[in-house]
Amino acid sequence: MNPQWNTHGLLSGRGLVKKYGSQYALAGIDIDIAPGAMVAIVGPSGSGKTSLMHVLGGIVRADAGEVYLAGQRIDQLSEKKRSEMRRREFGFVFQSGMLVGELSAEENVALPMLLDGVSRGDALRVARQSLGRLGLATKAGSRPGEMSGGQAQRVAIARALTRRPKVIFADEPTGSLDTRTGKETMDALLVAAADAGAAVLVVTHDRDLAASLPRTVVIRDGRIASGVAVS
Ligand SMILES: Nc1ncnc2c1ncn2[C@@H]1O[C@H](COP(=O)(O)OP(=O)(O)O)[C@@H](O)[C@H]1O
Ligand SMILES: [Mg+2]
Repeated sequence: MNPQWNTHGLLSGRGLVKKYGSQYALAGIDIDIAPGAMVAIVGPSGSGKTSLMHVLGGIVRADAGEVYLAGQRIDQLSEKKRSEMRRREFGFVFQSGMLVGELSAEENVALPMLLDGVSRGDALRVARQSLGRLGLATKAGSRPGEMSGGQAQRVAIARALTRRPKVIFADEPTGSLDTRTGKETMDALLVAAADAGAAVLVVTHDRDLAASLPRTVVIRDGRIASGVAVS
């Protein structure tokens, strides 16, 4: 069958099931993410939000179901191909940066490009531009430990966006920040993603933030409880 017939989005999950022992982290999820969509994923702790992001993003393999990117099945790719695809097509922002402590901000942002064979000079130049757009031009040479939590998260955002990915996965990206810094960081993420034309899936406990995005998907017990398209 033509895989396009299975999907209605840029990124689609079909019948996704993920088990840990006898525990269902995902109990059968269907989801379609349109190009450039901004989707809040909400739900109680342990409901499967992170598992859904990891399965859609190709970090973790589902036990059943399928994942399609632009109509192509991606969940069956080899580990090597999936890791290439993650670097090229996706960007990830986690609760606390996952930056490499020994590297400067610009080196952290350049890292995915270096892994893809971009020359060091070009990678660092693009990294500095990217940091500049997020208001971090003066921090390019600083290590993560020399920055505030909000600045470090903006470095992680710059790193996630630098290759112009189709989808950004942000798992509680402001969870370790105070309310005001969290809001500023989230705004920076959404503006940068919109500029890059990337879709954003963001797991958040912030009701105001979720309400401000066009679509909210509620996960409960590994299932979609509701997925509202507000506009
Ligand atoms: N690596 C793992 N090993 C065992 N159980 C896990 C693992 N990851 C998640 N789970 C379980 O799967 C369920 C969903 O977890 P998760 O996707 O992290 O939820 P959320 O992000 O909504 O808090 C929970 O019951 C959790 O304990
Ligand atoms: Mg989680």
